[in-house]
Amino acid sequence: MKLPHQKGMVIWLMGLSGAGKSTISNLFEEQLNESGFFSIKLDGDEMRKGLNHNLGFSMDDRAENIRRAAETAKIIALNGIIVTCSFITPLNAHREIARTILGDMYFEVFIDCPLDVCEQRDIKGLYEQAYNNTLKNFTGISSAFERPENPDLVLHTDHFTAKQCCDQLHNAVKTRIADI
Ligand code: PPS
Repeated sequence: MKLPHQKGMVIWLMGLSGAGKSTISNLFEEQLNESGFFSIKLDGDEMRKGLNHNLGFSMDDRAENIRRAAETAKIIALNGIIVTCSFITPLNAHREIARTILGDMYFEVFIDCPLDVCEQRDIKGLYEQAYNNTLKNFTGISSAFERPENPDLVLHTDHFTAKQCCDQLHNAVKTRIADI
């Protein structure tokens, strides 16, 4: 059954580890549900436990991770569901893979937070491991992260609360998700 009042689209949240992708995604889902919309979340940690368990963090593996995630998101969004994807998506080439697969369903959001703020947050302790060299190829430290060239939206999680960022996101997509 297609939900009559909503259109499928893919909101692609990308940014450094600790920038706030998952926090925004969780809060945004609550906000969507409260306003009667249904969404599904996909994120790197979850995809890498299952479908993408054979992939690591080389640039080629990251590209394949993004390709599979975008193909998965496409199938879901074509069924009229709003999909929120949270992936670091470190290179412009990776963003291009997602954009090419998703076409006009793709809405790119840069979760922009300076590296030093992400390091201070270090919610998962991964930055510490990267500095100790016990975690290799860590984005922003020992693996590249390119600032996106032309995102549809930039959210500054170091200046605004998660709630404010969600409101900015909702304002940016509300005309695209409503089937009116
Ligand atoms: S990517 O680059 O888009 O393919 O990465 P993604 O699938 O989003 O996976 C990022 C999460 O994997 C964990 N992790 C690492 N991240 C970056 N670099 C290295 N080396 C690494 N090793 C493990 C980490 O929990 C990331 O989640 P977030 O939510 O970004 O912190």
